[in-house]
Amino acid sequence: MEVDAEHRNLVGVVEHRAMNSPSQAACADDTQTCRAILEEFERNLDPADPTARGAARVLGYGEVSAALLLEALPGRVCKRMAGLRDRGAAERYESLVGDYLGLLRRSGLRVVETQVVTLQIPGRRPVAYLLQEHLGADGLGDTLLREADDATLLDCVDRVLVALFEVWTANRSRSGGIELAIDAQLSNWHFPSAAAQVGPPTLFDVGTPYVRRSAAYLIDLEIFLAAVPPLLRAYYRRARAVEKYLDHYFDPRSAALDLLGNFHKEGRPDRVPAAATRVNAWLAAHAEEFGHPPAVDSDEVARFYANDAEQLELFLKVRRLDRFIRTRLLYSRYDFVLPGEIRR
Ligand SMILES: Nc1ncnc2c1ncn2[C@@H]1O[C@H](COP(=O)(O)OP(=O)(O)OP(=O)(O)O)[C@@H](O)[C@H]1O
Ligand SMILES: [Mg+2]
Repeated sequence: MEVDAEHRNLVGVVEHRAMNSPSQAACADDTQTCRAILEEFERNLDPADPTARGAARVLGYGEVSAALLLEALPGRVCKRMAGLRDRGAAERYESLVGDYLGLLRRSGLRVVETQVVTLQIPGRRPVAYLLQEHLGADGLGDTLLREADDATLLDCVDRVLVALFEVWTANRSRSGGIELAIDAQLSNWHFPSAAAQVGPPTLFDVGTPYVRRSAAYLIDLEIFLAAVPPLLRAYYRRARAVEKYLDHYFDPRSAALDLLGNFHKEGRPDRVPAAATRVNAWLAAHAEEFGHPPAVDSDEVARFYANDAEQLELFLKVRRLDRFIRTRLLYSRYDFVLPGEIRR
């Protein structure tokens, strides 16, 4: 592996970054081919109908990005991230994702190899694609949440809680006021199975780098606001709505509530009580470190989920409104791929 010169990254850590770093490996041998394929796809993309030209399938609609499968890139998932204001914003986003992956790995987590390709189609805002290996559906957390037996599911929950604690511990030992968080919902992990047991999971939902320095977000929060009408943007900014939404990922108890709340979205609220027992054992085991947080219960999980779903639904509605204004009234382009109805 070739190693380049010293590199000072966004979070101020001096490191020697390998030319062929893990974040580049997904497409390392044919970066130019990947870029050309993505550029061609992006040039022809209608964000309102990403599959219109037949060469792509939507694997998952995110709140921020859309996970796509392109026929021309078999075996890979391409996550499209719009909302980048200009080339500088795209470069900063790419660099921050790289730093986030590196810091997560240093905290002890397994993170899927991810290559960021930023594209600039003339006359449009830049977009970033995150390329990852297309991991097997059998090991995906949402599959296991719906289908695995109780013992396996609870193993998965324990594994994720271990990872959450690793991130939390690494935050305490890192200098420079840098804190990381993860979106720990089971649907963001791939679990290898060996001898009827699940192994340490790999995180693949890394498109939103949750990094704060001295409590300030390093990701440009305008990326989230770019999809809503300008008047609402000002309101969201004043209310610090994005910061408040992201803050809960940094609190271990809230992150665990979110992990359990996702059981509702996946249609398995019946499995919350058993999993909550594991969360409570984890909160009790780390009570000193976490400042003695109270236990969680199924009712609180249901309320947490309802509140989260309401916020996300509202965010989706205002984005649809912006799409309507831009495409139907102003005859311009709306650059975000939005989901249809979501069952929450
Ligand atoms: N590398 C991958 N291999 C297999 N499936 C994947 C992969 N990445 C994403 N998926 C599928 O797509 C879904 C959505 O992807 P992901 O969790 O990365 O983003 P998200 O939660 O939709 O979006 P956002 O980044 O906007 O929060 C996943 O829950 C999973 O089912
Ligand atoms: Mg996800």
